[in-house]
Amino acid sequence: MKEKLHENALSFLKERYDNTHLNLPLRMRRNRKSPAIRSLVAETSLLKSDLVLPFFIIEGERKKEAIASMPGIFRLSPDLVLREAEEMHTRGIQGIALFPVTPSDLKSEQAEEALRPDSLLHRTLRLIKKEIPSLCLISDVALDPYTTHGHDGLANKAEEILNDETVRLLGKMAVAQAEAGADVVAPSDMMDGRVGFIRRSLDLSSFQNTSILAYSAKYASSFYSPFRDALQTELSFGDKKTYQMHPGNVREALLEAELDEKEGADILMVKPAGMYLDVIAKLRERTHRPVAAYHVSGEYAMVMAAYEKGYLHAPSAFYETLLGIKRAGANLIFTYAVEQVLEFLDN
Ligand code: PBG
Repeated sequence: MKEKLHENALSFLKERYDNTHLNLPLRMRRNRKSPAIRSLVAETSLLKSDLVLPFFIIEGERKKEAIASMPGIFRLSPDLVLREAEEMHTRGIQGIALFPVTPSDLKSEQAEEALRPDSLLHRTLRLIKKEIPSLCLISDVALDPYTTHGHDGLANKAEEILNDETVRLLGKMAVAQAEAGADVVAPSDMMDGRVGFIRRSLDLSSFQNTSILAYSAKYASSFYSPFRDALQTELSFGDKKTYQMHPGNVREALLEAELDEKEGADILMVKPAGMYLDVIAKLRERTHRPVAAYHVSGEYAMVMAAYEKGYLHAPSAFYETLLGIKRAGANLIFTYAVEQVLEFLDN
C-alpha cells in the first residue's frame, strides 16, 4: 500500500517536470537559486530614497528625550534634529517631516502659536533649510500640537470641530511654514476643502512652488497613540471620528483623494499603511499622482515591542513591512524605522 502511494507520488513529479515539450517554466526555484538571480528578478525594491523620516522637536539645546512607547525614537532639540538630519541625508534619506512639541503654556483655544513666526517649528525649518538646502522639508499643517484640547481643528463650546474656521487658519499656517522654508506642506487635519484653500493661499503669497502633500485618506486609527504620547497631544474630549475616516471604508478614501487632487494636491497619502494596503493599491490604480503612505507610530511600536521580547528581528521585519507597502503601490513612505531599514539595506 505504502509503496503504491510512493510510486504515485513519483509519477506525479515525473509528469510535472517531464513536460519540457510544453516549454513551461515549472521549476520556479530556478529563479531563486542565488542572491544574484533573486535580485535580478525582484519585482519590487525598497530604496533609501523612498523613505521620509519624521522628527519630534522640543525646545532647548542638546536635548534628547526618550519616548516610552517608541523605543529608539527621541524628542530632539533643533540642534540635534539638524545633526541627525545631516547624517541621514548623507546616508541617502531625501525627506524629513517635522512635528513640534508645543510647551503647554503656549497652547491655546485658538492655536495662535501655529502662526507665530518665531515658533519652534518655524525656527527649526529656517535652521535646517539654511544648513541642508538639498534636503526636502515636509511640515505638518494641523492644529493638534497647538490646541489645548489636542484636536486638529478649532472647537466650539459644544465641542464640535469647526471646519471652515479651521481651514482659514490652516491656509495662513501653510504660508507661514513656506516662508520659514518648508518645501512641502502636509495637511494632516482632514478638514473639508483645506487643500484648495491652502493652494490658493500659497499662490497668492507667491509660494507657487511649495508643494502640497495631502493626507487624503487618513483613518481614525488606534495606531496613532504613540505619536500622541510623543507630541503630548492627548485629547481632552471626544475622538477624531468626525473628521478622520472609518477604517472600513475604501470608496470614501478614493473620493477623498479625488477631491484633494482636484483641489491641487501634488501627492496623495494613505494613513496608516500596513492595514490599508488595499486602499494604497486601489488609489495607485486610479491616480497619476504620487501616492504616499504613512507607516505610523503604532505600527512601529508593535514591531519594536516584539523585538524587545526577542520574538522577531526588527530590521528584517521592518524591511518586509515597508517592501509590502511599496509593492501595494506607495511611491514614498513615512516611517520611524529608517535606522533599522538602513541597517538592513546596507548589509
Ligand atoms: C495629527 C497627526 C497624527 C499623526 C500625524 N499627524 C495623529 C492624529 O491624527 O491623532 C499620526 C502619526 C503617527 O501615528 O505616526 N495631525
